[in-house]
Amino acid sequence: MAVVTIVNEDKKLTDAGEITANLASHGIDYERWTPSHPVSDDAPPEAILDAYSREIDALKERGGYVTADVIDVNPGTPGLDAMLAKFNREHWHDEDEVRFTIAGHGLFHIHTTTGTVLGIEVEAGDLIRVPRGTLHWFNLCSDRRIRAIRLFQDTAGWTPNYTESRVDENFLPLCFSA
Ligand SMILES: [Fe+2]
Repeated sequence: MAVVTIVNEDKKLTDAGEITANLASHGIDYERWTPSHPVSDDAPPEAILDAYSREIDALKERGGYVTADVIDVNPGTPGLDAMLAKFNREHWHDEDEVRFTIAGHGLFHIHTTTGTVLGIEVEAGDLIRVPRGTLHWFNLCSDRRIRAIRLFQDTAGWTPNYTESRVDENFLPLCFSA
């Protein structure tokens, strides 16, 4: 289950219904996915995609996504810090950011259009869809690991556009669970 922190209000949400409703009010989709058959979190990418094909196909239809892949990041990933440094500053994409976490953790910060900043800590079973144009940044948690399914409309849209606002510097990338 995700943990959502409404930073400006010092409020924490841990209930799935509350999280879904709060994120939906900011245009962000949150879902809990279960595989159609049991699959190990270190199974090959094809097996992961197959086990979640029902949800993936439904989301593809809804969001116009054409491809899905599995990304794997862990402390042994070459160039990990350089990779993370691309995404831990406030940015937006011309593409939705769609992530279903299979293993590990991640912390999204969303800078909403009303000025509120939300921290969304995701773990296995959490699907998050951040619409294109949404200001956000991303950090790993202390386990420095995330394995996730990504969905794309067009991989060309996946380039970060930086705001250079440095607003991200005001928020500690601290996770509750890892
Ligand atoms: Fe991003």
